[in-house]
Amino acid sequence: MTKALQGAIHTEEPHDSARLHVTGAADYTDDIPSPANTLHAYLGLSTIARATITSMDLSAVRAAPGVVDVIVAADIPGHNDISPTGLNDEPVLADSEVAFWGQPLFAVIAKTRDQARRAAQLAKVAYDGLPHVCDVGEAMEKGYPHVTKPLTLERGDIASAMAGAPHRIKGEMRVGGQDHFYLEGHIALAIPGENGAVQVYSSTQHPSEVQHMVAHVLGKNSHDVTITVRRMGGGFGGKETQPNLFAAVAAVAASKHKCAVKLRPDRDDDMVATGKRHDFLITYEVGFDDAGRILAVDGSFAARCGFSADLSGPVTDRALFHADNAYFYPAVRLVSRPMKTDTVSNTAFRGFGGPQGVIAAERIIEEIAYHRGMDTLAVRRANLYADGRDITPYHQTVADNIMPQLLDQIEKSSDYQARRAAVLAHNARGITLRKGIALTPVKFGISFTATWYNQAGALLHIYNDGSMLLNHGGTEMGQGLFTKVAQVVADCFQVDLGRVRVTATTTDKVPNTSATAASSGTDLNGMAAQDAALTLRARLVEFAAAHWKVSPQDVEFTAEGVRVGGEVMGFEAVIKAAYMARVSLSATGFYKTPEIHWDRDAGKGRPFYYFAYGAAVSEVAIDTLTGEYRILRSDVLHDVGRSLNPALDKGQVEGAFVQGVGWLTTEELWWDDKGRLRTHAPSTYKIPLASDLPRVFNVELADWARAAEPTIRRSKAVGEPPFMLGISVFEALSMAVASVKDYKTCPRLDAPATPERVLMALERLRD
Ligand code: MTE
Ligand code: MOS
Repeated sequence: MTKALQGAIHTEEPHDSARLHVTGAADYTDDIPSPANTLHAYLGLSTIARATITSMDLSAVRAAPGVVDVIVAADIPGHNDISPTGLNDEPVLADSEVAFWGQPLFAVIAKTRDQARRAAQLAKVAYDGLPHVCDVGEAMEKGYPHVTKPLTLERGDIASAMAGAPHRIKGEMRVGGQDHFYLEGHIALAIPGENGAVQVYSSTQHPSEVQHMVAHVLGKNSHDVTITVRRMGGGFGGKETQPNLFAAVAAVAASKHKCAVKLRPDRDDDMVATGKRHDFLITYEVGFDDAGRILAVDGSFAARCGFSADLSGPVTDRALFHADNAYFYPAVRLVSRPMKTDTVSNTAFRGFGGPQGVIAAERIIEEIAYHRGMDTLAVRRANLYADGRDITPYHQTVADNIMPQLLDQIEKSSDYQARRAAVLAHNARGITLRKGIALTPVKFGISFTATWYNQAGALLHIYNDGSMLLNHGGTEMGQGLFTKVAQVVADCFQVDLGRVRVTATTTDKVPNTSATAASSGTDLNGMAAQDAALTLRARLVEFAAAHWKVSPQDVEFTAEGVRVGGEVMGFEAVIKAAYMARVSLSATGFYKTPEIHWDRDAGKGRPFYYFAYGAAVSEVAIDTLTGEYRILRSDVLHDVGRSLNPALDKGQVEGAFVQGVGWLTTEELWWDDKGRLRTHAPSTYKIPLASDLPRVFNVELADWARAAEPTIRRSKAVGEPPFMLGISVFEALSMAVASVKDYKTCPRLDAPATPERVLMALERLRD
């Protein structure tokens, strides 16, 4: 019998901060004790959507109580630019042109945050207003430019396949954006160091980029700037590029005044001044046969990108990469249209454009099903990727398709067929309350499509008391990354998890890291940390073999201790002996994802190392008089390969599902005709509450699944893929709506399906 390790790999170890989170002892950036004389910055925002600034009178701001300074574009010592693409299209502070309502124009520096915030309201800015466009459709009509080069994915002869199809349907769908609504808002604390150095504590998913941006804005080198983050209170993609602004402003003020400066916008300003999920206007034509088999798909994906490129290129690319979802399109053409609009620049958000692609595929399935009078599940099954016809629109082979097994399992475990029959029988009674049920799959590609991002580093120390300190490039935002990576390291030495402490992410320990994004945090950093651990383990084996005169094969790390020949020694004893023999007990690790490559101009390659799969069944009831609805039950079955930690993975699946449901149901962003975002607080923007959960919510991991590729311990990424399972709720709503016209027409239901939109879709069918 081997001893059971505490926190062993593949077990349900709690999140390393769980206790700290619930007792309030977890430190966030705002909890860091401020140095003496810390000043506070607050941003002054534009009050017009698009304009030339004719004058900016800041005298009342400067004269306000506690105000020490006001910083404008001209005070920026280096470059007034934080565009992550190098396109130089995103100023820190606008100088002469306003590009959207809520754009930062200046920063007030005062003794207290309250003083800075009040003073920021006193600016007198005169504008020469220009016409503006907020809507994607209008931007296209008016010939607005693309913020970045569009992508086309094409395979087969689309024109003849479409012309030859027995049935053809054209359609259009609008899909709304989403605010990240991380519980901890944006924040930065900048502390100047000696000789021009600056340390910034930032709530960021991408410390290395914040470092490079702060250096760029200050006109310094990267080695002058250190960025540190222990944890975020959620990021969801909203802290990939968006922290640059806050860190840059705090750093400029701190460098200028030679004292610490903190910048923390309130929730309304955070929502107004930072980018969100892209809303899309999707148009499609699908050709299919009598059996519901897709023959050709022609789709256009236009996105509201906002005033600058930010990550809109990769986001709209990923929409195309997922516009097939789990289905084979024999002939296909997909084009992206990353539209410039006079709104805040949209950015990464869980799924990174993927969800907007997947929902188009699912709408196409619905179109076919209602046209042919088939169950949507039957249409799905008729079009799944299968052997011999398994090439995606980007010419990657789907080599690890477990969708058929997943669908079989969840169809049975959720009792889908019997419940669907019951829903149909219920609706046949013709009463006000209608029901709907839908089973929707998701296939999600894992890897950054910018191939060079797929690298990670780690730094591991073993102290001579046998405790270990691990640093890696990944950031902790609640997803449990630190716990999983620590489990990997502890496993290499067969020690209890308590031996491994993971430190705050900091750019002076591991350089040039990628954003913790694309769900790849564990895949990349787990591998890099394992690499460091294996280096140290090999060093210790070599040392022990020489020291105790046994062969290296006779040195083994076990749960009981280190076996050296016939003897089992304590881990500490071996470490102490190694230290005394002057063996280095520190190592770096590195990983880059193998096999992947992508040629964007050709639209061909293998952008993804593997796919993660999942499926969900949701049942809803709607009130056909008011459009209100309730989720009665959701069943989720999700593939995480061999889970490193089933408890954390299940938490991710549940959270992602609910966030996906929020995107498609209650979370609505509303810009008025002046270009003002009117939904900028929880009073007007509704995220799901605990009471919005499905009444019955069954979440399972496909425990039999294993990654086909040699990923970290055969696990798969989990952060984003289950987000798209929320589409099952949206389609169940759609079916309930369709029932009022005998399921003969696919409802024109746009997202988010607020009660108003459900009602409008009903009215359209009744007319
Ligand atoms: N889970 C929590 N609790 N908080 C978050 O901010 N972000 C999501 C997902 N899960 C997020 C989360 C997003 S957008 C991504 S890309 C992944 O976590 C990033 O972490 P990972 O790569 O370690 O999965
Ligand atoms: Mo996640 S949108 O890739 O940060």
